[in-house]
Amino acid sequence: MSSPVLDVTDLSKRFGDFPAVDGISFSIKPGEILGLLGPNGAGKTTTIQMLLGLVTPTAGSIRMFGMDLSTHREAILQRVNFSSTYISMPQSLTVEENLWVIARLYGLSDIPRRVGDIVKKLEMEEFRTKVTRKLSSGQMTRVTLAKAFLTEPKILFLDEPTASLDPDIAEKIRALLKEERRSSGLSILYTSHNMREMEEMSDRIIFLQRGKIVAEGTAQEIVTRFGQADLEEVFLKLARESRC
Ligand SMILES: Nc1ncnc2c1ncn2[C@@H]1O[C@H](COP(=O)(O)OP(=O)(O)OP(=O)(O)O)[C@@H](O)[C@H]1O
Ligand SMILES: [Mg+2]
Repeated sequence: MSSPVLDVTDLSKRFGDFPAVDGISFSIKPGEILGLLGPNGAGKTTTIQMLLGLVTPTAGSIRMFGMDLSTHREAILQRVNFSSTYISMPQSLTVEENLWVIARLYGLSDIPRRVGDIVKKLEMEEFRTKVTRKLSSGQMTRVTLAKAFLTEPKILFLDEPTASLDPDIAEKIRALLKEERRSSGLSILYTSHNMREMEEMSDRIIFLQRGKIVAEGTAQEIVTRFGQADLEEVFLKLARESRC
């Protein structure tokens, strides 16, 4: 069995007295799609921000590609990328200009081909020359996904990647993610509140509740374990419990 590309052990983050993430451990294998599920405030975004080195953990370790994030930050971050709604880009640049800037920052070669390919893949031709400030939220989401794909990462962290997309584009993005995983062994950790998407996309799911892992396995395993009809029912049961 291949060794994991990401290994998280006893990871915690406290904001003051509040344990946003509370001692979680998990790993991701090459080419695996892991879904991070949980109610609002469960600690999903905080977890992703720690994996990106944007938030410093209170305790625990994060290893990627066999290296520790705290000591090999640059080498690791060259090989990962992310997409989320909290990304900001220079608003007065066009979509294409922003992608060029990112490509230059990462020191990529063959920039015109790469930018052209990604614009085509994400069907952004129509708005590639628009200034970023004028984009709709779904268009902006596609730009942040394009940014994430552009650097050809080995691990992608996606925080609600399809939240503002119309069903047609969301479906295309899911197909693209699966194709990248198949063709290049890309590993993906993503969050979503769309249960059908979680079931369709994830090889494995981790269910977070108040910063702790309360269930882990394939969608089917989790549904069976909780004796519910589907993942949505499991979600409702656990989310309501956590709000009691
Ligand atoms: N910088 C911060 N300072 C204080 N508390 C924070 C901070 N960031 C997050 N929190 C708290 O940590 C908890 C987890 O937040 P997080 O954003 O990780 O949740 P989430 O699972 O991503 O939720 P959602 O589904 O709403 O996106 C929340 O209670 C939130 O208020
Ligand atoms: Mg979040």
